[in-house]
Amino acid sequence: MSSYTRIISLLFFSSFLAVCAQNHTYVYHDCPNTTTYARNSTYSTNLRTILSSLSSPNASYTTGFQTAASGQAPDRVTGLFLCRGDLSPEVCRSCVVFSVNDSLTRCPNEREAVLYYDECMLRYSHRTILSTLSRNGEAVFRNDTTIPSNQSERFGNVLMSTLSQAVADAVTSPRKFDARKAEYTAARNVYLLVQCTPDLTNQDCSTCLQVSINQLPLDKVGGRFILPSCNSRFETYPFYNQTAVKALSPPPVSAPERPGKSGKSNGSVVAIVVSTIVVVLLLLAGYCFFTKRKKEAYDTAPASDDEISSADSLQLDYRTIQAATNYFSESNNIGRGGFGEVYKGTFPNGTEVAVKRLSKTSGQGEAEFKNEVAVVAKLQHRNLVKLLGFCLEGTERILVYEYVPNKSLDYFLFDPAKEGQLDWDHRYKIIGGIARGILYLHQDSRLTIIHRDLKASNILLDADMNPKVADFGMARIFGMDQTEERTRRIVGTYGYMSPEYAMRGQYSMKSDVYSFGVLILEIISGKKNNSFFETDGARDLVTYAWRLWRNETPLDLVAPVIRHNCQINKVVRCIHIGLLCVREDPANRPTLSTIVMMLSSNTVTLPVPKQPKFFAQSRPKKDLTDSEQSTKSSSVPWSIDGASITELYPR
Ligand SMILES: *[C@@H]1O[C@H](CO)[C@@H](O)[C@H](O)[C@H]1NC(C)=O
Ligand SMILES: *[C@@H]1O[C@H](CO)[C@@H](O)[C@H](O)[C@H]1NC(C)=O
Ligand SMILES: *[C@@H]1O[C@H](CO)[C@@H](O)[C@H](O)[C@H]1NC(C)=O
Ligand SMILES: *[C@@H]1O[C@H](CO)[C@@H](O)[C@H](O)[C@H]1NC(C)=O
Ligand SMILES: *[C@@H]1O[C@H](CO)[C@@H](O)[C@H](O)[C@H]1NC(C)=O
Ligand SMILES: *[C@@H]1O[C@H](CO)[C@@H](O)[C@H](O)[C@H]1NC(C)=O
Ligand SMILES: *[C@@H]1O[C@H](CO)[C@@H](O)[C@H](O)[C@H]1NC(C)=O
Ligand SMILES: *[C@@H]1O[C@H](CO)[C@@H](O)[C@H](O)[C@H]1NC(C)=O
Repeated sequence: MSSYTRIISLLFFSSFLAVCAQNHTYVYHDCPNTTTYARNSTYSTNLRTILSSLSSPNASYTTGFQTAASGQAPDRVTGLFLCRGDLSPEVCRSCVVFSVNDSLTRCPNEREAVLYYDECMLRYSHRTILSTLSRNGEAVFRNDTTIPSNQSERFGNVLMSTLSQAVADAVTSPRKFDARKAEYTAARNVYLLVQCTPDLTNQDCSTCLQVSINQLPLDKVGGRFILPSCNSRFETYPFYNQTAVKALSPPPVSAPERPGKSGKSNGSVVAIVVSTIVVVLLLLAGYCFFTKRKKEAYDTAPASDDEISSADSLQLDYRTIQAATNYFSESNNIGRGGFGEVYKGTFPNGTEVAVKRLSKTSGQGEAEFKNEVAVVAKLQHRNLVKLLGFCLEGTERILVYEYVPNKSLDYFLFDPAKEGQLDWDHRYKIIGGIARGILYLHQDSRLTIIHRDLKASNILLDADMNPKVADFGMARIFGMDQTEERTRRIVGTYGYMSPEYAMRGQYSMKSDVYSFGVLILEIISGKKNNSFFETDGARDLVTYAWRLWRNETPLDLVAPVIRHNCQINKVVRCIHIGLLCVREDPANRPTLSTIVMMLSSNTVTLPVPKQPKFFAQSRPKKDLTDSEQSTKSSSVPWSIDGASITELYPR
């Protein structure tokens, strides 16, 4: 036993013997031995400090969540525990004490670790872990018993819709926890639980839980998907304390009506359905019936590429930026992106800029950073936000962009008070503009740049509502490998990420195509893909759009605010293209150049769309057999797979 272990054990025996020596069910742990600390190091002292603070009698076992930090970088240790939301403070403490002790055996000298038990999770790291989504050390577990096939469909549907409701409630609850049961046959219940660490924002919690629930094995009698930031679990028996859960939250009065989804009178719906069918038939009979517009020019020429600026000419003085942004004042803050806060700045000559103060350390040196900024600054197209320069000051890294006066697309699209400002012509122009911007990134810019985080909030609008794609090239600037097909870091946003990217970290130009398809559907419907909980069982916009298409009522997707004033053939064509973009197999999705062609010419015949991928409802067969094979023996009740190590940076 190391001296370190002895010290901690002594500590426990002296002060914690009073705590009942209950044992706790170990689930999984992850502590990569690639970063370790030496026994007597400052790091080990700091770790010891936070572990004893986390397990001290005064830690907040009543809220079930506590963080602790000690020391200065690079030896700073941050740690936390999270107890299952239904547990009493006593059980919580007992589990934390147990896990701290257990961590000494399972992770004797690793700098970061996460350990999961049925009742709690313990985590520590030398990195920033608070308020940050992480997928390092995630794992899926499944009970090998399969739900009988005559119940499986109902089981999956009941489970997924209940999980969705649980996520919605957990996100807004103070403990970021929800547990509930649902009946899937007259006599059988399924019990489920979702929980985030309460340091996450509502948005991050939702993102994390969506990732988690979408990977649950819905065809099994039990399963869980655990991540350091959140977890979800279901069983066919009660595995949490139902009395405690009831006490935690009063039962909901009734399922709340979601506003804005049923505002149409039946008469006009019928009229629209009938006219839709007629129009679709007409379109099928002959495309040209409605088409009188000339072929539009979808040019892809960059603005001007000859003024190739060297890295140094792009470097700006820190004080200039401080002055321009009024010392990064709160009133100049205009938003928050995936990589940091954004401020509006005004230079002495009156030029307005957007200043992005990067929050995450970029793991690469100054020279590489400068090089990559220079590369990205050369990407110039009227549908891309222009990168004007950068600034380096100490550890601070700042990017300076052209200022785009209107806000981002989501600001208009999803706000009932503003969606009217985007009429069909605007929306159509925006779809075409985004396509051209991405096409330029993919193919016309000499380099192949995959955006990887295409979404409505990354589309800025200029004064004439022309779209400009923002946040491209961030993977380069942050030194994440662009050439590798599999990535350890997932830089995406749930709801826009293609299945292969979200699940396996595989990205390609076709993952941008998937996100673009989601964007088209959002622009047309005015609905967000990732906050979409329909009562009729469609879990997301993509599924919903597909069902309408299959039922030959695609116009039902169209946002009411533009429904009566749009060019129906174009709307239908856009929905069609959107559905082609979200095909499950990346090979079946069109390329951006094909998409631009499809948008610009009505004579190009489009392939028939197929049912898109819903994330979890039907797990691929291969996945199941793989996991069955990986189960070591019948005495191992749970099998693990997909314990991939990736990080998720949403937005
Ligand atoms: C753990 O719990 C089980 C059943 O609750 C019990 O049989 C076993 O003795 C306990 N082990 C320890 C070390 O307390
Ligand atoms: C790290 O762990 C791997 C497998 O878990 C093992 O093969 C390797 O020897 C370990 N390395 C060190 C330095 O302990
Ligand atoms: C660690 O500390 C012990 C005593 O506290 C000392 O004997 C030993 O030499 C130290 N080891 C290292 C590697 O510093
Ligand atoms: C508990 O109290 C000790 C001192 O009494 C203090 O050092 C420690 O930080 C406290 N821990 C928490 C979680 O408040
Ligand atoms: C701490 O762990 C050791 C070995 O893993 C075990 O023998 C001991 O009982 C544990 N102590 C407590 C208080 O759980
Ligand atoms: C499913 O099949 C089993 C027999 O295999 C039967 O006992 C059960 O009633 C069936 N359930 C339903 C819902 O049909
Ligand atoms: C469940 O919770 C209630 C209320 O918090 C508590 O009184 C009861 O002892 C708990 N039951 C178990 C089995 O832990
Ligand atoms: C798997 O499910 C069965 C019930 O179908 C249950 O008895 C068993 O305990 C479960 N296994 C685990 C590890 O939870």
